[in-house]
Amino acid sequence: MNTPKRYLVTAALPYANGPLHIGHIAGAYLPADIYVRYLRLKGEDVKFICGSDEHGIPITLRAKNEGKTPQQVVDFYHPLIKKTFERFGISFDIYYRTSDKLHYETASEFFLTLNKKGEFIREESEQFYDEEAKQFLADRYIEGICPNCGNDKAYGDQCEKCGKSLSPSDLINPRSTLSGKPPVKKKTTHWFLPLDKYQKEWLGKWIESKKEVWKPNVYGQCKSWLDQGLQPRAVTRDLDWGVPVPLPDAKGKVLYVWFDAPIGYISATKALTRDWEKYWKDKSTRLIHFIGKDNIVFHCIIFPAMLKAEGSFILPENIPANEFLNLEGNKLSTSRNWAIWLHEYLDEFPGKEDVLRYVLCSIMPETKDSEFTWKDFQARNNNELVATLGNYVNRVLVLTHKHCNGLVPEANGEAAVGTLQDAVKNIEALLDEFRFRDALTGVFDIVRSANKSLTDAEPWKKFKSDEAGVRQTLFAHLQLIASLSVLIEPFLPFTSARIRKMLNIAESTFTWRDAASQQLLNAGHRLDAAEFLFEKIENDIIRKQIDKLYGNASAASPVAETKQNGKPPISYDEFSKMDLRVGKILSAEKVQNADKLLKLQVDIGYEKRTIVSGIAQFFKPEEIIGKKVSLVANLAPKKIKGIESHGMILMAEDAEGKLTFVSPAGEIKEGSEIR
Ligand code: 2FM
Ligand code: ZN
Repeated sequence: MNTPKRYLVTAALPYANGPLHIGHIAGAYLPADIYVRYLRLKGEDVKFICGSDEHGIPITLRAKNEGKTPQQVVDFYHPLIKKTFERFGISFDIYYRTSDKLHYETASEFFLTLNKKGEFIREESEQFYDEEAKQFLADRYIEGICPNCGNDKAYGDQCEKCGKSLSPSDLINPRSTLSGKPPVKKKTTHWFLPLDKYQKEWLGKWIESKKEVWKPNVYGQCKSWLDQGLQPRAVTRDLDWGVPVPLPDAKGKVLYVWFDAPIGYISATKALTRDWEKYWKDKSTRLIHFIGKDNIVFHCIIFPAMLKAEGSFILPENIPANEFLNLEGNKLSTSRNWAIWLHEYLDEFPGKEDVLRYVLCSIMPETKDSEFTWKDFQARNNNELVATLGNYVNRVLVLTHKHCNGLVPEANGEAAVGTLQDAVKNIEALLDEFRFRDALTGVFDIVRSANKSLTDAEPWKKFKSDEAGVRQTLFAHLQLIASLSVLIEPFLPFTSARIRKMLNIAESTFTWRDAASQQLLNAGHRLDAAEFLFEKIENDIIRKQIDKLYGNASAASPVAETKQNGKPPISYDEFSKMDLRVGKILSAEKVQNADKLLKLQVDIGYEKRTIVSGIAQFFKPEEIIGKKVSLVANLAPKKIKGIESHGMILMAEDAEGKLTFVSPAGEIKEGSEIR
């Protein structure tokens, strides 16, 4: 590829059928935003495109579930999503929507061009039909058993459990998601893109040529599609929601959402600039699509096939898809409300946009699925943002105000705090390769070493004895902070702006190239007041979020499932092997050198037992004397801290790990069996 003259960066158009959650952000939007901000800082010509995907069954299904029209659904979610992106600092040049008239024109024209060129196969075939709902059943309107993994809720386009792409006829025992009834077959005509032909002609070779260019997870998925052999793919649907097929004999048919949505990138660029063709048709443009892994086939195979078939467009240079982000041990799920909704986060953590940006970038699922937990969020905020970056910047600024009247001091000689140039080069190379996690680590390595060098220099102790030395130290650190305000900008734009305010420099003063220079601030330049960049997040805030997550999760949530079905089923015979009894605690004492253990004497009716129980952190020995409890009486004896324990007291544990006895509710004699 020649040196690019310009970049067109797109981020997957989210369906306007629900709010954004952190999985969407970590998957596509944050990496795209970091990349674009970096390009802008380098002075590149770049356009950053996104918008709402307002068609398709995801929208009509949501409308049906909410008793609304599809239009009402998209009119509600589009502005919410747009605003949320803005609040989070995702810096699109345009946030468009596919219900726009210009998009209808662009998508129709695109279809007609392909039709005229004879690219489509037009074919009548039998498809599933719901006689009750009087509707053909494509994609998510049909579900059944997945032939690959046996999941009985696989959709007509994909099994969400094993990820396999399906067509409705692959499903075992298919049923309509509209009426729940088995469908009948009915004839209908559709337009197909001959992907099999393209594979042989050029698509196979083109993807092969990306082997070393695309990320292994992206290339690997494409390769497995190619190995299975591509099939013709229908680009129309029998639906009443979408862009109508622009042909006189196609009444009641619309373009398949995955045909119209990527054309949305083109329509959005047209809406943004009259120069749009330059970005889509000039070979010196680098086209890059940021997406999540569930979108790979559409962006790496189908959309390029469409663009090439049309004939006048360039093809994507790279498609740096991310894998999935999980949340607290489970898959993120909109339908089960197992999610952190971005607009709620922004409401509940005002001014902490960059904390989430930092955490999500640090754990971005670049090469494999990764995991967000609230505890990790807290630790990264407290240990990395507050204790490192925040602390470092604050110390340098406060000292400058104290000893130099808030003016950048005069200094002799070099400002070097380290070898910044090499570090910047390294960060740049990582960003060019879409390795955002490592790039962020690179930036924070600079911060960490600067923070340490400041601590080692101890300027707060030395002002009286070595005024010139302290001025020199502060001068060097102020220069470095100015550089950092550039280097962190792609990742933490709000923090970068705050630092520049404290340094009293205009937002757009420096470019990426300036970051490696160490003479950004002139001696005598007046600084603004020092403020804390970050604040510690306490346990109660985190606890509240965890409770909210568990409280919000619907009964069908993955958590509820784990709790209910956490262990595999056992037979009645297995259960009946357990001898469960009511016991009465006769005495209790602490076990020496074991904070958690109490040694209990328990009356189980027919004998008295010694049982060692891990409850010392929750109960004082004297509190539990006389308590009736449930216990496993036939557990094999076990030595614990030198004491032989004969049984186990049953305890209930809540989400916070607090233990409570499982005690019989009414009066009942010790030794009674529990069944
Ligand atoms: O998966 C999704 O959310 C789709 N709406 C992405 C579409 S990307 C592009 F093709 F528009
Ligand atoms: Zn499956």
